[in-house]
Amino acid sequence: MNKITAAITAVGGYVPDYVLSNKELEKLVDTTDEWIITRTGITERRILKGEGKGTSELCVPVALEICRKRGITPADIDLIIVATVTPDMVFPATANIVADKIGAKNAFGFDIAAACSGFLYALDTGARFIESGRYKRVMVLGADKMSSIIDYTDRTTCIIFGDGGAGVLLEPNEEGYGLIDSVLKSDGHGREYLHMKAGGSAKPASIETVTNREHYVYQEGKMVFKYAVANMADAAAEIMERNNLSSDDIAWLVPHQANKRIIDATAHRMGLPEEKVMMNIQRYGNTTAGTLPLCLWDYEKQLKKGDNLVLAAFGGGFTWGATYLKWGYDTK
Ligand code: UT7
Repeated sequence: MNKITAAITAVGGYVPDYVLSNKELEKLVDTTDEWIITRTGITERRILKGEGKGTSELCVPVALEICRKRGITPADIDLIIVATVTPDMVFPATANIVADKIGAKNAFGFDIAAACSGFLYALDTGARFIESGRYKRVMVLGADKMSSIIDYTDRTTCIIFGDGGAGVLLEPNEEGYGLIDSVLKSDGHGREYLHMKAGGSAKPASIETVTNREHYVYQEGKMVFKYAVANMADAAAEIMERNNLSSDDIAWLVPHQANKRIIDATAHRMGLPEEKVMMNIQRYGNTTAGTLPLCLWDYEKQLKKGDNLVLAAFGGGFTWGATYLKWGYDTK
């Protein structure tokens, strides 16, 4: 019997309707459309509006699109993994809420909190369940409602982030398609530069933490940028070297969408031209765990069976990594 690999067999995505443009941000903080575009590449981002709507609301349409495209029902799913740092609640896991909302009554589920690398971690974790031979349909979702933890008076962070989610279905394959290799890393020292100060067990919510605006993303952008450029490119280079891949062998780089300058640096290090780099940061900004699958969703029609893809990400933790996968289908 051939080795079982975990192949992506369907992709889904969802971004909310509300568009928060750079022009609108100019009215909220001291910034300009030109500064944001030049320094980040972002023109607009989406925001999930509505009382009581959390990250599961971003995941539900994604899960249903995946089921529809693959011709299965939610009851056919064995496992749902949601990568997010903005869960609906601290507990239960958003994966459980999604399963309940879509009627995935035979699935178990859990969340993975690895910030912008969350989807990479979740994809690799999901693949292990498939490769074990015990599970046949694993849904891996990456979604974040970043607007729920962004301070719209802080011009250094509010310009970057947006809301959105997407995901994939993993199924067993015996022809070598799917996940081939991953380099996953983390360094907790990086928490100093990117974190949320309160709301966890070390500093539970209080009137004081709310007054001090400690329930928002805190980021030292310059430091994070420095580490992101070096580590995302290193991980991508390592996965290429380990798998004897030259730039000609790679059809697509699927990079985390945090800053166009970080993406360009990674592509340059890999020797890839712009045409091979997935990019939608201009429309969605940084959706944290949503960026990688949102790229796959946007570019699905251009992907061909057998294409070699390298996914790469860097984010809070610090967490980072790269995954090499072989695309398993042509889109009709
Ligand atoms: O996905 C999670 C991981 N996160 C990332 O990968 C983000 C990495 N970091 C970045 O993308 C960039 O550091 C930022 C986009 C956050 C900031 O860009 P930068 O080029 O690193 O700007 P900076 O922080 O060095 O600031 C340069 C100047 C400063 O003014 P002075 O001190 O030179 O007078 C800032 O105060 O730009 C100012 N500035 C702004 N000006 C207009 C900072 N934010 C803004 C703004 N509009 N929104």
